[in-house]
Amino acid sequence: MAGHIPREFIDDLLTRTDIIDVIHSRVPLKKAGREYKACCPFHNEKTPSFTVSPSKQFYYCFGCGQNGSALSFLMEYEHFSFVEAIESLANSLGLDVPREQGKRGHNQLSAKRSRDLYDLMEEASTYYQLQLKSKPEAIQYLKNRGLDSQTSKTFGIGFSPDSWDAIKSQLSTHYTVPQLLDTGLLIQKEETGKTYDRFRNRIMFPIRDKRGRVIGFGGRVMGDELPKYLNSPETPIFSKGTELYGFYEARKHTRKLERLVVVEGYMDVIALAQFGISYAVATLGTATTAEHISQMFRAVSDIVFCFDGDRAGKDAAWRAMENALPLLKDDKEIRFLFLDEGEDPDTQVRKSGKESFESLLDSAVTLTDYLINTLQTRHNISTREGKAHLLNDAGKLLQTIPESLIKEQLITTMAKLTNVEPNLIKQHKLTAQSDYYADQRIEPRQVSSRLSDREVRLTPVRYAIALLLNEPKLAEYVENPEKIALYPIDGVNFLAKLLEIFEDSPNLTAANLIERFRGSEYEAPLINLTKWRPSTDDITVLQREFQDCLRQIRKKAHENQLESLLHKERVQGLSPQEKNDLMILLSEMH
Ligand code: UTP
Ligand code: MN
Repeated sequence: MAGHIPREFIDDLLTRTDIIDVIHSRVPLKKAGREYKACCPFHNEKTPSFTVSPSKQFYYCFGCGQNGSALSFLMEYEHFSFVEAIESLANSLGLDVPREQGKRGHNQLSAKRSRDLYDLMEEASTYYQLQLKSKPEAIQYLKNRGLDSQTSKTFGIGFSPDSWDAIKSQLSTHYTVPQLLDTGLLIQKEETGKTYDRFRNRIMFPIRDKRGRVIGFGGRVMGDELPKYLNSPETPIFSKGTELYGFYEARKHTRKLERLVVVEGYMDVIALAQFGISYAVATLGTATTAEHISQMFRAVSDIVFCFDGDRAGKDAAWRAMENALPLLKDDKEIRFLFLDEGEDPDTQVRKSGKESFESLLDSAVTLTDYLINTLQTRHNISTREGKAHLLNDAGKLLQTIPESLIKEQLITTMAKLTNVEPNLIKQHKLTAQSDYYADQRIEPRQVSSRLSDREVRLTPVRYAIALLLNEPKLAEYVENPEKIALYPIDGVNFLAKLLEIFEDSPNLTAANLIERFRGSEYEAPLINLTKWRPSTDDITVLQREFQDCLRQIRKKAHENQLESLLHKERVQGLSPQEKNDLMILLSEMH
């Protein structure tokens, strides 16, 4: 029998997955304030009552009551089993699902709390930024490249000292060596087991994920040493096939992005931003994947790939085009811009300025023109054989394009170009895959469990939990969560448990907890409280409310304790310890 899937893996899976992506690719969502909305896929309705919260990573339908995490959604929508849902999410992140073998050791909980890798990376980034300040040579390098300090700050540029153990000694007070190895900041020599800093004497570019968390780094030498750039390896929190450098910064800069430009390098993204083109992203030394493109299409409907005019740039463009074909839609646009030999976006924008760079972008060729032109340069269509070869190549590409006007137009153009009947091109094994793109919506079905009781009765404990689920950061402000568990009040042990979990891993969301408590007595109350939404997302207000709850809880605990001690005193007398407790309680009352 396959072993248990480790809880850490499920946590990690949910932290790296965005529920918005999972749902949006099946049920198109519209942004509505802090949340996203759609007509519920689980019951028939005309006005949207299905809401998804990115911060809680939780969906909930006010109409039919369906709710849960990304995993629950896949189970409901795709009729997956729990394990299938996990496998599906893991698959889209390119991960294998691990299975636990036998018992786990208990000694894994070291005295030091196992704080998150995300925190570690954030601290590393802060450290590198600080180091930059005391390295005139690095500052000079950035100046020479024309970077201003504002842009440098926006992108969190830093510097890694010329040392074999700077990051290790900086971070090892808070983090363990295995954690540092996990993030790729440290490297371990196989023969000796010794560790050393990966990034030494380099300009550091933090790579952030869509939520702005630092997940990796690129490091550039200041001279001509090789390699020019060193990047973080794939780690539990960083996967190059899904991340885009500069995406977070672009979305932060412009609330409603209209266009994205895909470039090749860190410095291209940064230079463009400095010149006011704050919508460039870069793939991280890899080809543009379908996952990259589909993420971009969720944010904008216009993508321009901007590559160097050299061989490498052309290859990169062709691969990007191939990966984009299955995602083509009539309301989306992909175009290509090739710069002159020897230029990259960084040098080009410095030379020509914002406006003329933007007019270059406006003049970029469409994907279909690019496709046809490239095929024409590859084959000599003045011969019958050349035409056949071209059609053969085209056929393979067309096969991957979903049914659309774009596809029809491509077929028509190919037909004209080669003097062949469009139908012949279509029949030439082009229809085989169309099922794959057929509408995958399931039948709306009646949902019996209509939730009548939307109101959550909010006692201070429940209110504190609800606040915490909305804003896990609040856990930071509680000093002794384990003490709270001892209060003689219903539900406090659960509150204490949540506080401990969030303190250990502040990046978990409500969805992680729902999965942790799936099938337990806590599942239902947890879901109920997750549905609740605060009237504000002002953290200071939430903090105040939360502190207030804790105060009330503490007060109530004192009262209960006092009452029971006084009762005991009357009926059977108190032990010396209890007397002492009573004295303390009484003195704390006023
Ligand atoms: P380029 O060699 O085109 O460099 O690499 P660049 O971006 O123009 O860099 P500058 O302007 O000299 O600073 C493009 C991208 O390829 C990856 C990096 O992501 C880089 O930004 N790359 C390049 C590496 O990962 N390692 C390398 O050694 C070189
Ligand atoms: Mn460059």
